Amino acid sequence: MAISSEFLDQLKSRLQLSSIIGTRVRLKRKGRYMSGLCPFHSEKTPSFTVNDAQGNYHCFGCGAHGDAITFIQLSENMTFTEAVEKLAPLAGMSPPPSSFTSKETVQKIKDVYDTLEEAASFFQSVLRSNQGQEARKYLDRRCIQPETRERFRLGFAPDNNALKTYLLARGHSEQRLLEAGLLSKNQEESYTYDRFRHRLMFPVWDRQGRIIAFGGRLLGSGDPKYLNSPETDVFHKGSILYGYHLARRPAQEAQRVVVCEGYMDVIALHQAGIEYAVAPLGTALTENQMTLLWNLTPTPVLCFDGDAPGQKAALRTAERVLPILKAGYSLQYVHLPEGEDPDSLIRGGSLSRLKDIFENPTPLADLLWHQTLKATPLKTPEDRAKFEKTLMSLVQEIKDPLLRNTYRETFRNRLFEFFHSHKRRGTGKKIQNNMISPAQVKPNFDPVYIQQKILFAGLLNYPQLIEEYYEYFLELDINLESLRHLRDDIILKINENSTLDASLLYHYLYSDGFTELLNDILCEDIYRHASFARPGTDIEYVRQGWLEVYSHLQNLKKITERTKNIDERFKHSLSPLLQAMMRRDIHN
Ligand code: UTP
Ligand code: MN
Repeated sequence: MAISSEFLDQLKSRLQLSSIIGTRVRLKRKGRYMSGLCPFHSEKTPSFTVNDAQGNYHCFGCGAHGDAITFIQLSENMTFTEAVEKLAPLAGMSPPPSSFTSKETVQKIKDVYDTLEEAASFFQSVLRSNQGQEARKYLDRRCIQPETRERFRLGFAPDNNALKTYLLARGHSEQRLLEAGLLSKNQEESYTYDRFRHRLMFPVWDRQGRIIAFGGRLLGSGDPKYLNSPETDVFHKGSILYGYHLARRPAQEAQRVVVCEGYMDVIALHQAGIEYAVAPLGTALTENQMTLLWNLTPTPVLCFDGDAPGQKAALRTAERVLPILKAGYSLQYVHLPEGEDPDSLIRGGSLSRLKDIFENPTPLADLLWHQTLKATPLKTPEDRAKFEKTLMSLVQEIKDPLLRNTYRETFRNRLFEFFHSHKRRGTGKKIQNNMISPAQVKPNFDPVYIQQKILFAGLLNYPQLIEEYYEYFLELDINLESLRHLRDDIILKINENSTLDASLLYHYLYSDGFTELLNDILCEDIYRHASFARPGTDIEYVRQGWLEVYSHLQNLKKITERTKNIDERFKHSLSPLLQAMMRRDIHN
């Protein structure tokens, strides 16, 4: 009986070597390594290093070298099997006899790898052949260059059970094709056929770079857009990350890893020179995947779409990761502009913008703060208490006691500053340039003022429109001084960071003392007049409504003059009604 290499790989990939060794040796991070005093020989200066990404330790003094299993064997004087039995529960695996596999099973798994490897080569050769023409055109359209296709071993799965026929002829049994996840059965289970038909094929690798599964994408629209291999002996979706084996070295060198959402994002990023990108296979990140990421760098960056579902997904991963956080290991976030993914941004020519975004991620603690802030109104003392309570209940999820304390302290201080500074500004002790005294914000029933507030509400809730309507916003004739100050501050904040989301922008403006004015703008009184300005509205609807109110506000004659200089895009984005009105105005 031997323990399958599959089991051992799983075991090692689920463990973080530094935390195992860290219970016996005091380790300090030194760039890519952790280092400390060697436990295997006596020394005064540290020459013992631990590399989590490779799962190895090495001592430059005595030459001791090994992995988690040998470390336990040596330090606890155990046999190999005993060490595995001890480590398995730490990795969340159950080792008992079932996982101790026979020689036949080991051979069977090796055969599955061979079959998958041959399948990948087959798909690749089809892509290069006549049959692959449509798929090649598709890849051309998506700007995937020939070298990239080779590097990611992209292929094409034809119809007509071509793969099954090919592999059977090459001596692979039907049973093995099933075990490799390459075939499906009809409902009565009377025959088998190719699982992947007429799809662009993406091989999926394990950490060692062995092919363990495939993802297949339809060339056109349809359902499901992507089809993945089923779970097999060698493929466990939740324990792998697409692109990991290619990203490992670049990630360690850059000390950065970016987790995006899909196959195409990983490929587009690699092609654009950002090689530290990986993706889960269409599911939320698991604990195993977090460990894989932490083995590369202490703070992986998760990338989400900036729309509402993307923000929700970000918050969900944050909540899920809290219990497994440990000192020194965390997460960071970036939100891409709504409806974009890394692939679409790169193709749209925004690579440098994307790099900027990756270089300015939001730390986990900030994400929790902002998302909670966004979800809680802060008008009454009860609201404030609730805000604090929600934050503290998140902190309570952190199991690591040291880290839990740090978070609690951080949030306490922040809460104090947040509320205290507003109180202080409210009493007028610390006057800022852009500070508004409450007296300036009078109840105002002037329709011009109301419409201006509507425009502000639209931009505050949809900051992505601020750049788009920058000039219109600047040209707005505002009589009320406090509102002018608010506009200046919004412009300032957007100039500093054009990717600000609504919650962060709100947070900054709030901190700058615009509390009352903001409350006056972002309220039901205003939304009642203009439902497009509410949070959570369709962006096209917001655009339409905003432009309509804007045009209404400026007098039509002025608009007619100005439209001569305004680009076509603006004209087209006006509602048909307004376009007609403007035409009439010109003709008059
Ligand atoms: P997306 O729908 O965001 O697609 O799915 P994408 O990656 O941007 O793909 P393109 O650009 O349209 O080609 C993200 C990931 O979710 C999984 C896949 O892993 C995909 O890469 N997914 C998606 C599925 O597994 N099945 C599906 O039907 C759709
Ligand atoms: Mn995409």
